Amino acid sequence: MFNFQIHATDGRARTGLIETDRGTIRTPAFMPVGTAATVKGMHPEAVRAAGADIILGNTYHLMLRPGAERMARLGGLHHFMNWEKPILTDSGGFQVMSLGALVKITEEGVSFQSHVDGSKHFVSPERSIEIQRLLGSDIVMAFDECTKHPATHEEAARSMRMSMRWAKRSREAFEANPAPALFGIQQGSLYPDLRRESAEKLIEIGFEGYAIGGLAVGEGQEAMFEALDTAPELLPTEKPRYLMGVGRPSDIIGAVLRGVDMFDCVMPTRSGRTAQAFVMDGTLNLRNARHAEDAGPLDAECPCPTCAHYSRAYLHHLFKTEEMLGPMLLTQHNIWHYQQLMQGLREAIAEGRVQAFAKTRLDRLSAAAA
Ligand code: GUN
Ligand code: ZN
Repeated sequence: MFNFQIHATDGRARTGLIETDRGTIRTPAFMPVGTAATVKGMHPEAVRAAGADIILGNTYHLMLRPGAERMARLGGLHHFMNWEKPILTDSGGFQVMSLGALVKITEEGVSFQSHVDGSKHFVSPERSIEIQRLLGSDIVMAFDECTKHPATHEEAARSMRMSMRWAKRSREAFEANPAPALFGIQQGSLYPDLRRESAEKLIEIGFEGYAIGGLAVGEGQEAMFEALDTAPELLPTEKPRYLMGVGRPSDIIGAVLRGVDMFDCVMPTRSGRTAQAFVMDGTLNLRNARHAEDAGPLDAECPCPTCAHYSRAYLHHLFKTEEMLGPMLLTQHNIWHYQQLMQGLREAIAEGRVQAFAKTRLDRLSAAAA
């Protein structure tokens, strides 16, 4: 089962539900990143308690360790990591590309050397789909190339067209062994004509949902929003739209206003490990000495367990002494902060006040940055 219903729209923003056999996903949704079969530093129960309906896993990392066939023998990713709710898996191409020199891309697929032990691997659209099936993914992503930034029109066109041929091969491989959903990934860099061509090719193949790839790769928020002024509208209204790898709270707010339904990003988890807290008025660095005697919570408006029980001074102390509870408590807060933002957006859309909600939140963020 995979069923998306939009319950309310407000301008281009939408709120609704994706129903799957493993549970319902409220949209707009933020998916915490669980790259290596763990949302780093958090028990799955705590991820759920923060309000996450779905998490993201990575083909690339899991095929190397513990290995896709081994994962299947161990009962699949949900069972392995004790997360019974939906899981979306990224297809691997994007993560492989970040290996740089160790990668060779051909029409057939991608050859690369493991960052773990230097062993040689090959992933094609067919193998990526097979790995995602072995992991037990609920939402499988087509295998694509995330076009580098900047790219000339010619480079972006060539890359996007190969991704569209790979999208077709992904669909065919998926049909031989289907899961609840396969999402296509739009590419085309910052070129509106290529985004359009990509959308048309994906729609012709047909997917249960559509991702917008190749953004948040260094182009900056203004250029990303310009792309998002047109890219989502090129995709089917009635299917979920997923902006991959985004982002900061202000990026998410801007993208929701432009019609995006799903997000993932390492920002809340990675920042939590490096002492950065997301709060209503921007970010805090807990290593900063100004927190040393601050008995108040991270964020007085946050309902999370970290803010309920621990002071900024204590968190500062944990980071200064490099205690592992510091990253754990801060990651928990950050995941709550993101989930609270999504809940606020969903309610505001349902009540027809998303513009006012966005303005209040963005004003506070820019006042803090000034
Ligand atoms: N994560 C962030 N951007 C991308 C993208 O363009 N493709 C894939 N597969 N994953 C991503
Ligand atoms: Zn909190």
